[in-house]
Amino acid sequence: MIDQLKQHISEVEKFSSDNLEAIEAFRIQYLGKKGILNHFFAEFKNVPNDQKKEFGQVVNQLKNAATDKVNSLKELLENSVLETGIYGDLTRPGEPIELGARHPISIVKNQIIDIFSRIGFNVSEGPEIEDDWHNFTALNLPEYHPARDMQDTFFVQTNPDILLRTHTSSVQVRYMENNKPPIRTISPGRVYRNEAISARSHCFFHQVEGLYIDKNVSFADLKQTLQFFTTELFGKSKIRLRPSYFPFTEPSAEVDVYWGLETETDYKMTKGTGWLEIMGCGMVDPNVLKNCGIDPNEYSGFAFGMGIDRIALLLHQISDIRLLSENDIRFLEQFKSSF
Ligand code: PHE
Repeated sequence: MIDQLKQHISEVEKFSSDNLEAIEAFRIQYLGKKGILNHFFAEFKNVPNDQKKEFGQVVNQLKNAATDKVNSLKELLENSVLETGIYGDLTRPGEPIELGARHPISIVKNQIIDIFSRIGFNVSEGPEIEDDWHNFTALNLPEYHPARDMQDTFFVQTNPDILLRTHTSSVQVRYMENNKPPIRTISPGRVYRNEAISARSHCFFHQVEGLYIDKNVSFADLKQTLQFFTTELFGKSKIRLRPSYFPFTEPSAEVDVYWGLETETDYKMTKGTGWLEIMGCGMVDPNVLKNCGIDPNEYSGFAFGMGIDRIALLLHQISDIRLLSENDIRFLEQFKSSF
């Protein structure tokens, strides 16, 4: 009988399977109620006394061997189910994750927002479909004012009161109507103008306009703010302000930044002058403040507005504005960036 037991032990040790049913059958065969071990335990009483000790030891050996075998095979099986069943083969090299890219307009817009937020400007937004008051009339552009022609307007259907905003100055009007000075806000957003589409202009583009209203705000504050901005965005601090005209600011100016004439591209971009026009600005016309419920005797302020698309073209040396709205993946993929 001892020999039989030893035979079983070596069979148990040899047994292997990765099949749960086969392991369970093996367990029942050895450790089940009517299994081999119980059979030997029942034989115990028939073993001569002088052999009982050795017999008992070997039966226990078989029991331990069978129990260990069942446990270790089950554990192996569970681990391999975890590895291959749920997660796949954990030792395989990882799948490459394709990183998306931000649109160049978003990159530049975020840079501009970041710069102005460092000097206390918040961000305000408004609707792209506007009414006449917020886009024109409140900004000193009453009906039949010739300056309305500066911005070829898309009207919505036949209602001359509803239009696609031609600038985000409309957001500034809304902001002044709803907030008391001091006001420091920038308004980024998409705007629309009925212009022929070419490499340099499009019928929609993006702007960031800024507004600062407080007591005793002067033109010097405006110039200092713009100089800080151009230094931060372009790394160029030399700017000049050329007198200009906007109905909503008085005095008004056009801002040029000195780009330099170091490379052939610089020559092309600046038409050989070294200067680049980047935005319009001025002191908010007292009449506009009045229209928006702010007392011009108490408060003054400045405003400025720039096109994000043009700046994106400049900063990233993009030759055609149409690339910004064509969704060509080969173009967009070049802007993988964390900004
Ligand atoms: N709203 C003007 C435009 O769209 C830009 C501007 C804003 C000019 C504020 C002066 C002051 O052209």
